[in-house]
Amino acid sequence: MLAEATKFEDECLAELSRAADPAALEAWRTRVLGGSGSLKSLMGRLRDVPKAEKPAVGQHLNGVKTRLEEAFEARRAELASRGASGPAIDITEPGTPPPDGRRHVLTRTIDEITEVFGRMGFTVAEGPEVEDEWHNFTALNIPDGHPARDPTDNFYMGGEGAGEGRRLLRTQTSTVQIRALEKQRPPIKIIACGRVYRPDTHDATHFSMFHQVEGLCVDRGVTMVDLKSTLFHFARAYFGEEAEVRMRPSFFPFTEPSAEVDMKMKVKGEWKWVELGGCGMVDPNVLKAVGVDPEEWTGFAFGLGIERIAMRRYGISDIRWLFENDARFLRQF
Ligand code: DAH
Repeated sequence: MLAEATKFEDECLAELSRAADPAALEAWRTRVLGGSGSLKSLMGRLRDVPKAEKPAVGQHLNGVKTRLEEAFEARRAELASRGASGPAIDITEPGTPPPDGRRHVLTRTIDEITEVFGRMGFTVAEGPEVEDEWHNFTALNIPDGHPARDPTDNFYMGGEGAGEGRRLLRTQTSTVQIRALEKQRPPIKIIACGRVYRPDTHDATHFSMFHQVEGLCVDRGVTMVDLKSTLFHFARAYFGEEAEVRMRPSFFPFTEPSAEVDMKMKVKGEWKWVELGGCGMVDPNVLKAVGVDPEEWTGFAFGLGIERIAMRRYGISDIRWLFENDARFLRQF
């Protein structure tokens, strides 16, 4: 009987170790440990054991029972931890979508501006943010000693460029007019959007870095009518049918004549004039600086502040918010 009980125990344990899923485990439990299971019938046979052997056999059978029960629990825990009882998560359930990213409101504004001018035939040009004095000043008809070159109004980097003066962070995207004309002969029709740098004290409307969109069109017979109609079509396309453009006489070294550009746009539900930048007819000296004959070619240029456009359009009252990278602010646009 003792030998039989040991054999029974071994067989049961072997079967248990083969039970690989919850159903097999439960079947084993019913068959072996259940109310009419094989363990119970084995123990029932204790009745037939001679009296003298009963205590020893009984003790042995109790040991078998305990070990089988413990083995069952251990096996159940093992299968659960292996995930064989089914994954803890339902992989067929739809996942949590990652939060949507979005373009920065300025990037979006730049893309929109680029799109509108693109429809008018302007291609995109680029220039470096670290410039030399030739592109930032000299070629733009801003001579040595001009107040715009004052060290307190510029971020000079130190070090001499080869014949091109000191390096500085560009103060205007007008530099790209020169870069574009150095690369490509007229006719040329480009815009350039990008960062410019000025040592301004930060407040609600000033920041030491901001963005401009520069436009340049040089061709035969280009006049101020082309300039104004280009700005006008931009205003209509970008700000809506009631938008208007106003030019006020002004001065820039690289244009003659020059004007300030205002656009009438909707600000908090009301149409208002907003000053956006400057424009004019490209000064003959600028064309000469890049070897373009001003008797043959004429052009117009403009430069608008992108923060101003975005802030008015989206009702942003403090420029600093644009550069703080606070997601709670940026998420709104
Ligand atoms: N570069 C000028 C500035 O930063 C803006 C400007 C004025 C650009 C007139 C132009 C222009 O192209 O024609 O203040």
